[in-house]
Amino acid sequence: MRRESSITDNTVTISSSTNIGPDVSLVSFRCPPVARNAKPGNFVNIKISPQNQPLLRRPFSIHYIDGDRVDIMAKSVGCGTSLLCGSPVGAELQVLGPLGNAFTYDDPHYQTALLVSGGIGSAPMRFLEKNIRAQGKKVRNIIGGRTRQDIRTEGLMDCMTATEDGSEGFKGTAIDLLRDRFDALCDSGSIRVFACGPNPMLKALAEFCRDHGVPCEVSLESVMGCGIGICYGCTVEVRNPGNSGTSTILLCREGPVLDAERLLF
Ligand SMILES: Cc1cc2nc3c(=O)[nH]c(=O)nc-3n(C[C@H](O)[C@H](O)[C@H](O)COP(=O)(O)OP(=O)(O)OC[C@H]3O[C@@H](n4cnc5c(N)ncnc54)[C@H](O)[C@@H]3O)c2cc1C
Ligand code: FES
Repeated sequence: MRRESSITDNTVTISSSTNIGPDVSLVSFRCPPVARNAKPGNFVNIKISPQNQPLLRRPFSIHYIDGDRVDIMAKSVGCGTSLLCGSPVGAELQVLGPLGNAFTYDDPHYQTALLVSGGIGSAPMRFLEKNIRAQGKKVRNIIGGRTRQDIRTEGLMDCMTATEDGSEGFKGTAIDLLRDRFDALCDSGSIRVFACGPNPMLKALAEFCRDHGVPCEVSLESVMGCGIGICYGCTVEVRNPGNSGTSTILLCREGPVLDAERLLF
């Protein structure tokens, strides 16, 4: 997992905000320093309001970069995200980033990238897909959700979808769909999996990939404060590399992207 260090704190203005699904908005702003230095998997930590509520910044994956423009895909789950999703064009945000490490998509030892996402976990995938395709590799998406309302495919190509209620695509979880299509996917060469989504999905995916000898990286979430390793608000217990015991890491610094072999949950 690659780490970058060109972190800047920027006052930006929302240039567009579009509701793209129930409680989900695509929020864009111009931010040249973040756009220039961001890698797929990085996140930004956003102070959404100059007021005291919410006091702390909120972390968001970088959804896409186009020139100087940075896009965030935000799902409203509480006070900060509902404020962000409801912020009008012209509103100011304080954006710290790019933060965290990145997916190691430029590993030469695979032919097909399989991007597995659940719900809002597809947020980092558009940027990742663009960069992998630019290297001439194949990209397939597996996207899961409880119902069709949870499926977010915006900007993604070659998508296979799964819903638990069968309202769109394959009936079952994203991992059920992967299990169903795995042999066919392997026909187009060796696979590397990149994933983001709810913890139960990531756990099932990690087990599947371990059992089938497929390298897999996952982007994890935790509650965060500073985003830069100061507050110790994002501790996660993980397996040490080489399977030698466990340790506690700061997800904002050593993550959010981890080798799936390190997951303990
Ligand atoms: C590295 C990283 C990248 C992320 N990328 C995105 C993204 O691209 N799009 C997006 O919509 N969300 C993303 N999240 C999750 C997002 O940061 C949280 O949903 C947000 O901080 C919640 O803030 P709130 O004020 O709306 O919720 P709060 O009012 O603080 O809490 C509301 C509820 O959400 C829960 N919650 C709070 N933070 C998290 C969290 N990090 N993960 C899961 N549940 C949480 C709380 O426990 C509570 O139940 C990311 C999180 C991390 C750590
Ligand atoms: S969020 Fe503060 S140390 Fe990670």
